[in-house]
Amino acid sequence: MKATALAHPNIALVKYWGKRDDALILPHQSSLSLTLSPLSVTTTVEFGVPTDAVEINGHTSKGSERERVLRLLESVRAQTKDALGPAKVVSRGDFPMAAGLASSAAGFAALAVAGRAAAGLPSDARAASILARLGSGSACRSVEGGFCEWQRGERPDGDDSFAVQRFDAAHWPDLRMVVAVLDRGEKDVKSRDGMKQTVETSPYYPAWVRDAEEEVPRARAHIARRDLQALGELCERNAWRMHSTSLAADPPLCYLNAGTLGLIQHLREHRKKGIPVWFTLDAGPNPVLLTDAANEVAAEALARACGALDVIRCVPGGDAALKQEHLF
Ligand code: DP6
Repeated sequence: MKATALAHPNIALVKYWGKRDDALILPHQSSLSLTLSPLSVTTTVEFGVPTDAVEINGHTSKGSERERVLRLLESVRAQTKDALGPAKVVSRGDFPMAAGLASSAAGFAALAVAGRAAAGLPSDARAASILARLGSGSACRSVEGGFCEWQRGERPDGDDSFAVQRFDAAHWPDLRMVVAVLDRGEKDVKSRDGMKQTVETSPYYPAWVRDAEEEVPRARAHIARRDLQALGELCERNAWRMHSTSLAADPPLCYLNAGTLGLIQHLREHRKKGIPVWFTLDAGPNPVLLTDAANEVAAEALARACGALDVIRCVPGGDAALKQEHLF
């Protein structure tokens, strides 16, 4: 009745931006991401306790965050014959929320894997990915490691909307992702609200959906060949297009700040000098730089020279996994 799992966050190379079903978290388009090690979130779930209790990073969880956790566990209960009873959940990340990297993806992936195990359900990456998706869309891509593709699916019940691993972490050990934390503040508009506003008001949104869907197989082909330049160019293009469709929303959504643009300009100068470094950007001002092992020190120096407060160097990460020790 008690289980603990660890999962890594992921960074989207082709972004997910917009839902066709808000309740089931079904996306308009497919997306593709890379799991990031050594960052991780560990979550313990125990069923059969007196009342539901959720603790995240040492704080009792409230409001929509708590509701999302309990809703995911409700779906676990619906899949078992036994009465599991109320649940206690304790989750802890080993990286600061302020890093600008969503810990929610890793948190919900770990919750899905631990929740299924605590309920006595068999290990099943597809079922865990569907479950994690109910917590946060991008979480479905953190159940397996390496390069994962979230297939949008067609079914209204969402049973064909889950992530599949295309290449494991060992496929491209030389790849590096360098997170440049330019701003530690909370963003004004959360991804969930920003993407909804974009779907509802941006005239460019249909073009975004068409383009992103077409970029996924291209990204897969570049990853298959370990073609850093082609993948880097695709990532930048996709990030710009996500931000362009958001800028065209009403009211407009601008997640970049002056520091972000400064870093991007310097990065282009570095490329002219032959340093292979590209960026991607989620719904916030902190770029994530793509490079290789030989150039990660140069990428970190670039980020620091452009005002990064923290720099986190990452390598491709592995699958979410059950652990022996529990958090409580
Ligand atoms: C820009 O997965 O956090 O990071 O499904 O509403 O919980 P919800 O949103 P979330 O959005 C992630 C948006 C993104 C791009 C991505 O990770 O693909």
